[in-house]
Amino acid sequence: MASCELLAVVVSAGPSEFWDLLSLSVGYPTPEKMARVRQGYREALGCGLIAAVLDGCLVGAIGYQDSAGGVEVKHLAVRPDKRHSGIARALIQGVIATFPGKVLFAETHDGAVGFYNRLGFQSKPLPRKLGSETRWKCRRQTNVEK
Ligand SMILES: CC(C)(COP(=O)(O)OP(=O)(O)OC[C@H]1O[C@@H](n2cnc3c(N)ncnc32)[C@H](O)[C@@H]1OP(=O)(O)O)[C@@H](O)C(=O)NCCC(=O)NCCS
Repeated sequence: MASCELLAVVVSAGPSEFWDLLSLSVGYPTPEKMARVRQGYREALGCGLIAAVLDGCLVGAIGYQDSAGGVEVKHLAVRPDKRHSGIARALIQGVIATFPGKVLFAETHDGAVGFYNRLGFQSKPLPRKLGSETRWKCRRQTNVEK
């Protein structure tokens, strides 16, 4: 299991490497779309970003938004060659540690719903599909062990 360091990222100072990694969790991440994503983190209330660093290298990125209804994981990505070594789990745990007792939720796709299920989220299919892919709404309390 990788033991990575978690660092808060300041939106305006986040290096392009961070945004390139985060773009792996954005559908059709054109430069224009990524500029909008970045602007959203800069302007929307309650947003935050965390980087996972392993041996001095950026390996994971998460973006979230806190609101009265809970904390939404808006983006989550791990470098392809570092997957399945606990980095995304560590990032989710970083968000949980920041918002103890809150509900955590995410909308995701068929390829990642198994990850959320593994971390104790309850997943429900959404009526809306993206092409042939089902979209999933995943949710869990932050105060349960998983
Ligand atoms: C989904 C993603 C973030 C998972 O990152 P990761 O660092 O490989 O995940 P972890 O190693 O922390 O996995 C935690 C557990 O979930 C499991 N898991 C990871 N990805 C999984 C997947 N796609 N399907 C099912 N289980 C998965 C792991 O095997 C591990 O299980 P364990 O408890 O038995 O060890 C990564 O595959 C990714 O960046 N995908 C592309 C972007 C994306 O789809 N993001 C999600 C959109 S919101």
